[in-house]
This record gives sequence, structure tokens and C-alpha cells, in this order.
Amino acid sequence: MSEQKIEKLLDKMTITEQIGQLIQLSADAFQHGKAVISGPFVANHMSQEDMYNAGSVLGISGAKTVRDVQSDYLTHSRLHIPLLFMADVVHGYETIYPIPLALGATFNPELAKQTAAMAARESSAGGVHVTFAPMVDLVRDPRWGRVMESTGEDPYLNAVMAEAQVAGFQGDDDTPDQQHIAACVKHFAAYGAPEGGKEYNTVDISEWRFREQYLPAYEAAVKAKSLLVMTSFNTLFGVPATANQKLMRDILRRELDFHGVLISDWAAIAELIKHGVAGSLREAADKALSAGVDIDMMSFAYARYLAEAADLSPELTRLIRQSAKRVLVLKDTLGLFDDPFRGLNEEIEAKELSSSANRAVALKAAEESLVLLKNQGNVLPLSHSTRIALVGPVASSNDLLGSWSWKGENAPMPTLESAFRSEFASVLVASGTDYHAITKSKFNAAIAAARQQDVIVALVGLPSSESGESSSLTDLQLPAEQRQLLKALRDLNKPLIVVVVSGRPHVLGEVNDWADGLIYALFPGTMGAPAIAKLLSGAVSPSGHLPMSLPRSVGQIPVYYNHFNTGRPLTYTPTDDQDRYLSRYIDSPDTPLYPFGFGLSYADLVLTGCQIDRDTVTKDGQVRVTATVENRSEVPGTTVVQLYTRQMVGETVQPVQVQRAFKKVAVPANQSLKVEFVLSVAQLASVHLDMKRRVDLGEYQVMVGLDAANVLSTEFVVREVE
Ligand code: BGC
Repeated sequence: MSEQKIEKLLDKMTITEQIGQLIQLSADAFQHGKAVISGPFVANHMSQEDMYNAGSVLGISGAKTVRDVQSDYLTHSRLHIPLLFMADVVHGYETIYPIPLALGATFNPELAKQTAAMAARESSAGGVHVTFAPMVDLVRDPRWGRVMESTGEDPYLNAVMAEAQVAGFQGDDDTPDQQHIAACVKHFAAYGAPEGGKEYNTVDISEWRFREQYLPAYEAAVKAKSLLVMTSFNTLFGVPATANQKLMRDILRRELDFHGVLISDWAAIAELIKHGVAGSLREAADKALSAGVDIDMMSFAYARYLAEAADLSPELTRLIRQSAKRVLVLKDTLGLFDDPFRGLNEEIEAKELSSSANRAVALKAAEESLVLLKNQGNVLPLSHSTRIALVGPVASSNDLLGSWSWKGENAPMPTLESAFRSEFASVLVASGTDYHAITKSKFNAAIAAARQQDVIVALVGLPSSESGESSSLTDLQLPAEQRQLLKALRDLNKPLIVVVVSGRPHVLGEVNDWADGLIYALFPGTMGAPAIAKLLSGAVSPSGHLPMSLPRSVGQIPVYYNHFNTGRPLTYTPTDDQDRYLSRYIDSPDTPLYPFGFGLSYADLVLTGCQIDRDTVTKDGQVRVTATVENRSEVPGTTVVQLYTRQMVGETVQPVQVQRAFKKVAVPANQSLKVEFVLSVAQLASVHLDMKRRVDLGEYQVMVGLDAANVLSTEFVVREVE
């Protein structure tokens, strides 16, 4: 439809109908295909007519259900404007891919794109038009449960993954075809930095830091043409995001040039009252609308305008029309005016849901997401004849999906026991403990199984329900019961392989010391079990790298690689009483237990020779950086070569390292591989005090490593003329 036609349609719409487009209802608004006034809808004085006027709904899917709801809706919609179906297809629909943090660990944007594309295929057949993903909030505090939804602590990795996921969901064309869905990047903005890691808590960072480190991933998603953006629950620069004109109008709309639909998070407009920036729901609605929030998700704030439709000010009338237009443009972009039943097809749905192609991608993504942290004495991989005791709560719960796994339970999922039996000659399963409770009989059974077998594989961690939204923690250790079991297993003096399955970095403490082999499995999804078993048997070679630093203690948080140097940096390992007046803890090393970007391979991979092709370069120039990865072993291996830079002197302080590029490379046994990066000087731009991003002349350090902490470095100078 042309813009003119949309304007004409708006002309025909009453103000009530236009307001309707701005209201999003939850799934329980439609039951057995019909609008039903119940619970919150009664409480908020919505009539059945209002419900049939609402422009979108969240959380309904399934080809038949969506067809029924849409058909009924259209018979009630005076102008036959189709209903828009939105949902949280975060890391899969039925086939569940690794959680986003685990996708970060793959350092493989192409694979992340593929998982999003597969999720789009599955969910579009089931009638979903818009997914509330990707979540691209930069995260540095694993106390916050939603770190699982992000791709981690690095602005560059986040930006690359944001772009990849948007392209995967929406497809490569400007408008998503029927097998793709619209993306909604969230949560704008800086939701990932709540004070104390406490859910929904205040965010208070400077605008400079926001622009330098938090904004780039949202910007990348908007550049990748994400059709929607969601506001965040938190306050930023003193104003809750949902009412924040600077954030939404100045930065998102004007600077990032975002023309799509801006939706509030669940009930976030109403929450402006509790935040203390609105005295009533009506005032909250005015503030959100003025900030440019188009759709009200379940606050019933915009619904307040319905009763007063006749008396709205010309400014509010203008804003309502503007927002309604954006919603109509989205519906048109998705082709709903041509085909309100877009993509719906029960047969395709049945074929597509959990298809073998999707499961193959899920397996590959799960395999690439697993991070090998420790492999003492090359205890791994285990030969097929190894007799294994499979213990720990995850061994029996098979809880591998992670939160936001909407329809994941519908997909057939291999269990850990079956997956291990496919790889190993003898497997005894005895969990030994539940996640948080231990019984003597279970404990004894696990010890007995461990005594009987050659190797102990302990699958420990937290259940899916303990990460994700509203899952903040103050203690990041593995639960005491699990540590008790691990200690007892350690005392058996048999090889102990620990696999941590969780949605966040934990404080591993002694567990790290006890383990001979240590694998971090951020919830790996539907095909997680075969991925873990194959990794342990060596059928798959580990290639995941940490997307967040693993802290030594909660007290160390936030601990992240791209910190500033301070005036008194710690540049060596101090002895107890040495140099007290440095930026350090006196009761703990300064470094994380495992740094960002860390991940071992079964091969012995060593990075040698970091070289650049020039010592000076101009602002519009490029520097070629080369390094060699030597494989000094008899087995092939895959790793991630990471390129970092540091600006030595700037107007503002500069991080000690900033990742600029990475390459995932496979190195054959006993061979070397030369890896080349082309670093364009434009990438070195940093945010200045005038809030503008630009490149400074001067000295830069360039670093290459297989993780952020162990790097080879050299320098170059950016000059006016070469
Ligand atoms: C979450 C969003 C999600 C929305 C709809 C909210 O509680 O913060 O991320 O998209 O619910 O389910």
C-alpha cells in the first residue's frame, strides 16, 4: 500500500479506531477464536468493541488458532484492518536453539543468523508476525538473570550478533517475506546495567558511557532495519525509558533514524506512576505518547484515551494519528492487508515445526556454544570405551532449554542419558542431588555409581527457572548441595569432568580446582544433550569462547575486559603487602577466573607473531594485522582469534582493550594458519565530550589473542599525513 493509501485509510478511521491500533492485548483476550472480556480487560473498562479494535495481540500462535482469531476479528473490524500477532520467539519456537548468551559464545554470527532464520520459519508458519527479539542489552553483571538473553559484555560482539539476528528473523530483503518475521530489538535502553544486578533497578550511567558502550548494539540492530524497538523498564538519565523523550525522540528517532514501531514493555507505561514521574494513568499515557511510544503493551494507559476520545487536544490527536500510521505501515510491510492469513498453513506448520533441518542447526549451534575451560592432563576427550558415571541434578532433570523457550516442550528432545549412551560403552545415571536439596539415598547412589565407573561426569548448575526475567541472585556459587556432592566425588580420586549448565556466569571457586575437565554449557537448547556427549567423546571439537568474564567472587562484579586503566592500575601480581595504593582488592586477585573470549580446544593452539603492515596511517586508512595460529598437536582444532585496540591518549579515558574484529578459524593438526584482519581507522572512533564519535590522531596499540587476557601486541600511529 502506498503512503497515500495509508493516509486515506487513516482519514476513514475514527479517533477511537486509531487509538485501537496503539493497544496491545495479551493472549487471554481471545479465547476459542473470540474476544473475551475477562480479568484485566474488565478491570480496565474495555468493551468487546474495544477489544476488536485493538491493533495487536501477544502470545497467540498456531496456524489454526491464529486463523480462527483473525477470521473472527476481521468480521468485527469495520475497516477490515488485520490484527497483528506478536510473540517472544527469543531463541527458537519449538526447536530451541542455545540461549542468546550461548550464541555469543559461538562467536559465529552466521550461525546466529541461521538460528534466527529457522526460528522465523517455524513461528511464521504458526502465525507469528513479530518477535520480541533480539535482546541486545550489554551485560556485565551476572547477578542479573537476564544476562542469558544477551550476547554478553562486549559492545562489538553484541553489535555483530544483533545485526545477524535481525537479518535472520527478517530475511535479507527490505520487507520480511512470509517465511520471515519482523524483529523488535529490545530493551531500549541500557536495561542490562541495573544497580546491584537487581531486576528492574535503576540504571545510572553517563551519557558518554552509554553512547560509547551500550548504544552500539541497538544502533546495529536499527541499521539492520529492525522494524520495531521495545522500551526498557529502567530509568536512564533520570527518566524511565518509556517516558524518556531524549532517549526515544532525540537518540532513537532522530539520531539513529528509526522510523519503525516503538512498543512499550509489558505494563511499562503504567509503571511510570510507581516510578514517580506520572500521577495518573492518563498522565502516564501522555508522557509515553509524547516520548513517541506507539504501542502500549498491557498497561491499559492508551485505552484511557478511548473514553475521552472526543476531547483530546490537537497535539494528542496528532500524536495518535502518527503512531497509528506507524502500526499500519508495519502491517502493510508485513503484507497483512494483502493477506491477513500471511504464512498460515497447517501442513507447512506440521512439517516445519522441529524439522530435521532445524534440529541440525540447533545441534551445530549447541556444539559451537560449549566452552572448554579446563582440560588437565588432557583428560578430555574420553574414549568410547570409557565407563561413565553421569551425576548431578542436570543428569536427571535434562533441563537444557533455558528460559524464554516458548514451545520448546513440544519438540522431541534427546535426554542426556540417551545421548551419552550413543557415545559411550557404559553409562550409569545417578543424579546424587537435586538442584537445591540432597537426600542420603540419592547421594549414596551417585557415589556408588562413581566408584564403579572410570570417569565421573557431573552435570551441575541451576534450572532454567533461575535465570531470565526476575531471576536476580546475590550468591552466584553453585548451590551448597551440589558442591557437597562434587567434593565427595573429588575425594574418590577418579577423573572428574564438571559440566556447568546454567544461564549465567557463576562463581566456581573450588569447583574449578576440583575439576580435571571443566565445560561451561550456557543452556544449549533442544539438541544440547548430544552436543555435550559428542564434545566429551571428541566427536566434536570444542570451539566456544566466553562471552562474559567468569568472576572469582560476587564482590568482584562487575568484572569485564574493556575497563578503564585508572590512575593507579595494577600491572602485575602483587604480593600481600606490596603496593597497597593501587587499584586492586587486597583479598582477591584483580583478574576474573576466566577472561572474556577464553575457550580451549583439544588441540594445542598457540598464537605467534602479531604484525602490522604499517606504523603510521591516516584517518581514512587501514591497517593490515596478521597473526599466526600454530597447531602443535596431532588433532585439528578450532579457535577464535580476537583483535583488540587501545587508544593510548584521548580526550576522555579509554578502555584498556576494545574488540574490533574476530575470526573463528579451524587449524589442521600440526599446521599453522595465518590470520589476517583489515582494521579500518574509522573503527577506532570513540565518543568525545561533545557526545560525537570521531577518530583521534595519536598512538594506538593493537592486540591479538585467543582470549582478552593473553595477547600479543604492537603499535601504530594515526597521523594527519602518512
Ligand atoms: C519482558 C519482555 C517481553 C515481554 C512480552 C516482558 O516482561 O521484559 O522482554 O518481550 O514481557 O512477553
